[in-house]
Amino acid sequence: MGLSRLWLRTLLYGAIAGLIFLTISCARESPAEQPVAFSHRVHVGKKLSCVFCHGGAEKHAQATLPSVVQCMTCHTGVKPDSAEIRKVKAYLEHREEIPWRRIYALSGEAAVFFNHHRHAAAGVKCAACHGDAASRDVLMREVRLTMGFCVECHRQNSSKFRDKRLADDCVTCHR
Ligand code: HEC
Ligand code: HEC
Ligand code: HEC
Ligand code: HEC
Ligand code: HEC
Repeated sequence: MGLSRLWLRTLLYGAIAGLIFLTISCARESPAEQPVAFSHRVHVGKKLSCVFCHGGAEKHAQATLPSVVQCMTCHTGVKPDSAEIRKVKAYLEHREEIPWRRIYALSGEAAVFFNHHRHAAAGVKCAACHGDAASRDVLMREVRLTMGFCVECHRQNSSKFRDKRLADDCVTCHR
C-alpha cells in the first residue's frame, strides 16, 4: 500500500471515529441544574424502590414526583444539618414544593396519551424509557421519547396488545 493511501485511510477512520463520538455525545443531553442536589444513586443504593417515591408508576397514568413532606420523613433524622437538607427543610417551612426541573416531558403539542400503569403491567422496565436512572447522581435525558421510538417497540410487542392493530394505531397514542 502506498503512503498516500495509508494517509487517506487514517483520515477516513479518524472522521468515522469523530462522527461516532459526536453521535454518542449528542444523544445524551447535559444534566439539568436542580434546586437540591438529589442523587438517585445514593437513594436507590439505600434499597429504596422507584415506586417508593414515584408512587403512580405502577398504578396510574402519571408516575408523579415525591413531595417535600416525604423527603423530610427521613431527613428530620438523616443528615438534618447538611446544607442541602436545610434547603429541603426551608421549602417545607414555606409550604412550597421543590421546583424540580423536568427531564422527561412530552411536548404537549402532539397531544400524546401516555400511561405508566399499562407499561408496568406489560413488564416494560423503567430503564427502557429513562435509562439507568438508578446509578445516576444527576439525571439527564438519556432516551429520546420520539414517536418512532414508541411505535417501534409497540410493533415488536404487538402480540401483547388486546388487538394487534392497536399497537401502531394513531388513536392508541393520540386522542
Ligand atoms: C414506555 C416508556 C416509559 C416507561 C417504561 C416508564 N416511563 Fe416514566 N415517563 C415516560 C413518559 C413518556 C413520560 C412523560 C409523560 C408526560 O409528559 O406526560 C414519563 C414521565 C415520568 C416521570 C415524571 C412524572 C410524570 O409522571 O410525568 C417520572 C418520575 C417517571 N416517568 C418515572 C418512571 C418510573 C419510576 C418508571 C418505572 C416504574 C417509568 N417511569 C417507566 C415513559 C416511560
Ligand atoms: C427513606 C428515607 C429517605 C427519603 C424518603 C429521602 N432520603 Fe435523602 N437520603 C437518605 C439517606 C439514607 C441518605 C444518605 C445519607 C448519608 O450519606 O449517610 C440521603 C441523602 C440525601 C442527600 C445528601 C445529603 C448530604 O449532605 O450528603 C440529599 C441532598 C437528599 N438525601 C435529599 C433528599 C430529597 C430531596 C428527598 C425527597 C425527594 C429525599 N432525600 C428523600 C434517605 C432518604
Ligand atoms: C428517594 C426518592 C426517589 C427514588 C427512590 C427514586 N426517585 Fe426518581 N426522582 C426523585 C426526585 C426527587 C426527582 C426529581 C429530581 C431529579 O430529577 O433528579 C426524580 C426524578 C425522576 C425522573 C425524571 C422525572 C422528570 O421527567 O422530570 C425519572 C425518570 C425518575 N426519577 C426515575 C426513577 C427510577 C427509574 C427510579 C428507580 C430506579 C427512581 N426514580 C427512584 C426521587 C426518587
Ligand atoms: C419498550 C417497549 C415500549 C415502548 C418504548 C413504549 N411502549 Fe407503549 N406499550 C408497550 C406495551 C408492551 C404495551 C402493553 C399493551 C397492553 O397492555 O395492551 C403498551 C401500551 C401502551 C398504551 C396502552 C394501549 C391501549 O391498549 O390502551 C399506550 C397509550 C402506550 N403504550 C403509549 C406509548 C407511548 C406514547 C410511548 C412513547 C412515549 C410508548 N408507549 C412507548 C410497550 C412500549
Ligand atoms: C405508540 C405511540 C404513537 C403512535 C401509535 C402514533 N404516535 Fe404520533 N406521536 C407520538 C409521540 C410520542 C410524538 C412526539 C411527542 C413529543 O415530541 O412530545 C408524536 C408526534 C406526532 C405528531 C407531531 C409531529 C411530530 O412528528 O412531532 C403527529 C402529526 C403525529 N404524531 C401523528 C401520528 C399519526 C398520524 C399516527 C398514526 C399513523 C401516529 N402519530 C401514531 C406517539 C405515537
